[in-house]
Amino acid sequence: MTQMLPRTLALVLLGGFVGLASPAITASELTGRWVARVPNGDGTFRETVFVLNRSGSTLTGSIINPSSEQPFVEGTADGDMFTFASAPATNPRRTIYRGVIAGDEVTITLVRPGRPDQQMTARRGPDSAGRLPERIPPPARHAVPDNGLARTPPMGWNSWNRFRGSIDEATVRAIADAMVANGMRDAGYVYVNIDDTWEAGRDSSGRILTNRKFPDMKALADYVHGQGLKLGIYSSPGPFTCAGYEGSYGHEAGDARTYAAWGIDYLKYDWCGAARLYADGDMPAIYQKMGDALRATRRPIVFSLCQYGRQDVWNWGADVGGNLWRTTGDIADNWESMSRIGFSQDEHGPLAKPGHWNDPDMLEIGNGGMTTTEYRTHMSLWALLSAPLLAGNDLRTVAPEILSILANRDVIAIDQDPLGRQARRVKSDGDVEIWARPLAGRAHAVGVFNRGDATAHVTIRCEDLQLCGGYHMRDVWAHADVGMLAATQSVSVPSHGVELWRLTPAR
Ligand code: GLA
Repeated sequence: MTQMLPRTLALVLLGGFVGLASPAITASELTGRWVARVPNGDGTFRETVFVLNRSGSTLTGSIINPSSEQPFVEGTADGDMFTFASAPATNPRRTIYRGVIAGDEVTITLVRPGRPDQQMTARRGPDSAGRLPERIPPPARHAVPDNGLARTPPMGWNSWNRFRGSIDEATVRAIADAMVANGMRDAGYVYVNIDDTWEAGRDSSGRILTNRKFPDMKALADYVHGQGLKLGIYSSPGPFTCAGYEGSYGHEAGDARTYAAWGIDYLKYDWCGAARLYADGDMPAIYQKMGDALRATRRPIVFSLCQYGRQDVWNWGADVGGNLWRTTGDIADNWESMSRIGFSQDEHGPLAKPGHWNDPDMLEIGNGGMTTTEYRTHMSLWALLSAPLLAGNDLRTVAPEILSILANRDVIAIDQDPLGRQARRVKSDGDVEIWARPLAGRAHAVGVFNRGDATAHVTIRCEDLQLCGGYHMRDVWAHADVGMLAATQSVSVPSHGVELWRLTPAR
């Protein structure tokens, strides 16, 4: 705004002499930093900065979002109109931006394949608009001592998969109530985790503020604790989170203290905005910083690393204080996404151990994009993988068949087995995969999966499992003991289905 004053003043004065109505910008004045602020609906705004350089009819520049800065292509300006694109025409997901000068603003329409056009109004911003804060050098590495938490994989619920930006305090309370009423708490689901979009800015002392969806985080934590549950929260090591909300950059110690004062029990820490300041190689040091900050609060806070499995995080996640670390990009509620993620978790299996878990992302069970058979496969696979079990559906209205999947105590017992040994793929033959893990008491869990489109008739030899010599079999989904494991065991597995057994030694 300060930049605009002299020009506005000049035009107003000039207008007084020659009868001009309002200070209109001209095409030649397009050069500059233009800021569009789109309301998020919770009192916060998502800012996009368009950096425009006009030279004749050619327009160059970049688009700055909270977690990225991308130069645009094919920029042209003609009279009051201008246009540019996020990527060349060969990219099927490119966005075309069509702008028009309107008074002292520009109106920009985003044209994207398969989505409705979106319009935003941008105003000339200060020279600082969209610029990064100064880069704070990553700290020297050291090992963060184990916090002693998450001896079995964390279980609970997270808001993101189902609610995205619409999560609010009333919904979190109602979810907590539901977890008590429907028996999930008693089945082991304890963490109630608020994901992205709770944040506002900071006060003058740098303290993180909640937006109007979460008027009182301490009162919410008290309520959740009163229900015998624990409360989780979300942030980013960058200036902004993935959804463009305030991150913890430069405020790690203060934010950790604020979480502890609120009574927070779990932090998911999502790389996103940090990518604008740091290289992937800096990840261990940057995560260590928050690992130290959480530890310094002396409150037991589970530390969840979310950086999409980059940099072989399973090799260093425990050293930076992490209790779990995402191993992949985001899951979606469909068979292709879930099975691609779930069946790709073999290689880093041996790195999981009590206190430190591979996290193939939150559950989609009950969100509607898969069949009951596929959701049973999802649950079975995650249990075999000793994955965190964070339900991601609306627990206020959960159908009985979905609840019976999430709250199946036999499957949960596999996931929560105290040995903490993640399953490995012991055999794969076309669409059929067999995964197995050792359990406490010389027991084993075995899953026979069918990734194909037709029923599979599978013959399993006890040698395939290296489990010959007397095991009682329990069919986990049928809740039934089904005799002894035979030397040659035959089973039919439906398309996208699973046969899941617990094998207990006879002697
Ligand atoms: C990333 C994470 C998701 C979720 C969103 C929130 O995409 O991987 O799990 O936390 O950010 O913006």
